[in-house]
Amino acid sequence: TESADSSPARRGVHTQGRAAIPNRHLRTDRWWVPPLMTALGLGAFVVYSTWRAFANGNYYAAPYVSPFYSPCLASNCTDMNGGADWHLFGSWWGISPALIVLIFPLGFRLTCYYYRKAYYRGFWASPPACAVAEPHATYTGETRFPLILQNIHRYFFYFAIPVAGILTYDVVLSFRDADGNWGHAGLGTLVMLVNITLIWAYTFSCHSCRHIIGGRLKHFSKHPVRFRLWGWVGRLNRHHMLLAWVSLISVALADFYVYLVASGAFDDPRFF
Ligand code: FES
Repeated sequence: TESADSSPARRGVHTQGRAAIPNRHLRTDRWWVPPLMTALGLGAFVVYSTWRAFANGNYYAAPYVSPFYSPCLASNCTDMNGGADWHLFGSWWGISPALIVLIFPLGFRLTCYYYRKAYYRGFWASPPACAVAEPHATYTGETRFPLILQNIHRYFFYFAIPVAGILTYDVVLSFRDADGNWGHAGLGTLVMLVNITLIWAYTFSCHSCRHIIGGRLKHFSKHPVRFRLWGWVGRLNRHHMLLAWVSLISVALADFYVYLVASGAFDDPRFF
């Protein structure tokens, strides 16, 4: 009967009509290693970024600004000597200015197609791996609230472009010394340069970006420029998972570098 079909025991992989396999899965490899590594890696980033986002200090060491705090939109921002400190939020904003700006890059990553797969597997075991049944009784995918909101990813992509643009501006400013004179380059400049390169590569490798550039076309032959761009983005897109990880690590390292210099724990070596 219908009620018998929808009972928890008859849902998911146990739905009537599917092969009656008593084992939870038939995999013999160590399938649990990737989701475990993912959970540990993402968990470490969440702990680190939460600490730094609430720290509200040591995020500017002239001429370097932490990517977690740029653009600095609150009035309580440290004066960044010409950096992207716009002070749009009034003095009523009393907590860390990072909490305003981080909404955009975190929203972009949280709704990213790759990260969705990663944290669904790593944290929710939904499913934990290919061909391993999930422990939950029901599975609705992303068809219902709240997960249907993942569809806003393409809009976060539009926000990710100006955010990366502002971080690029910060890198340009890192070629000035603490007094504002051009021609400076230190280890921090290199750290920020590598970070912004990886952030742009990750942003352009986005699946939504690929669709915006090359999707909804009937004939590539009539759109040679878009075809060319789609080819470039497609090449990056193949490495989206790798870029997601290396850019996540680099953004944390860039922030940590600024923290070390700003807190006085480390002196920025200057190349010229
Ligand atoms: Fe990963 Fe868009 S799909 S950033």
